[in-house]
Amino acid sequence: MNESLNEEKSRLLWKKILAEAENMPTLPDIVNKVLEQIENPNSNPDIFKEIISQDPMLTAKVLKMSNSAYYGFSREIVTLSEAIIILGLDTLKSLVIAASAFKSLNQQYDGYGLSKGDLWKHSLATAVSATLITKIHNYQDTEKFFVAGLLHDIGKIVLSKTLEKYNKSIATLVKMREISFDIAEREVLGFNHCDVGAELARYWKLPELFVDVSKHHHTPDEAFPENGLYVKVIHIADMIAYDAKLGLGVDGSFYKRDRKIFQEFKIDRKTTQEIIPKVRTSIREFEKALI
Ligand SMILES: [Fe+2]
Ligand SMILES: [Fe+2]
Repeated sequence: MNESLNEEKSRLLWKKILAEAENMPTLPDIVNKVLEQIENPNSNPDIFKEIISQDPMLTAKVLKMSNSAYYGFSREIVTLSEAIIILGLDTLKSLVIAASAFKSLNQQYDGYGLSKGDLWKHSLATAVSATLITKIHNYQDTEKFFVAGLLHDIGKIVLSKTLEKYNKSIATLVKMREISFDIAEREVLGFNHCDVGAELARYWKLPELFVDVSKHHHTPDEAFPENGLYVKVIHIADMIAYDAKLGLGVDGSFYKRDRKIFQEFKIDRKTTQEIIPKVRTSIREFEKALI
C-alpha cells in the first residue's frame, strides 16, 4: 500500500500550506520586540519596561508570574520595575514570550491527536526541560533555550488540519518500516512539521536560531554549526517531554532519539528520571500563574 503523494500533489500541497502559514495570525508585535532585545547585547531594563508597559494584560501577567511559586520569591512584587530587577532580564524575556505564545499553542490540534492544551503542555515541558539541561552544564543564555523549546513545534499549528487526512498513512508507515514519525511525515507528504515550522518562523520574522530549531529538532546533525548547541539541547528536551507523557499526541511515541547526542550531554536514563518530576512541578506552577 503506497499512500504517499506524488511529486506534483506534494508540490501543490506545500504551496497551500505556505499560503496557510502566511495567513496565520502573527505573533503579537511585542514578542518580536522582545526577541529583538534578546539578540541585542546592549538591551537594558528600561527598554523592557517600556515595551511591556504598553500592554496592560502582559504587565498584569508578568506581575502575577513574578509572585508565583515558580519563581519562589519571599516578598510581594508590586511594580514592573521591581519585577524586572528581581526576575532579571533573562527570566523576564522568557516570561513575556511564554505569555504571548500561550494563545496559539493552547488550542486543539486534531491532526496530531492533541486535545486543547496538549501542545502548550508539550512545548512548555520542552522549554522547562531544556532550561534544566542548561543548568546541569552551566550554560549562560538560558532564555534562548527556553524560547526555542517553547516554539520548536509551531509547524504543527499549521500542518494539523492537513494531517487529519494523512495521519493514518503516516502511522502505518512508521510501524511498517520502523521509522521516525518526522521521516514518515515527509515521506507521505513530501515535507513535515519541521519544514513547515521553519517557514512559519520565517513569516513571523523570528531570529534564524529559532528557524533552525524548528527545522532540525528531530535531525540535530543537520543544523547550522552555530545553532548546534541549541538544536541538540532541544532535541533532548523534546524527548524528555515525551518521556514524561506531556502532550503525547499520535506522534509523540514515534520519534527516534539521537543516542550519541544524549551521551554527549551526559543525559542517561537516571538523569532523565530526575528531570521529569522537576518538569512536572515547574509546568504546574508556571500554568497556575499564567492561566
Ligand atoms: Fe517535533
Ligand atoms: Fe516536540
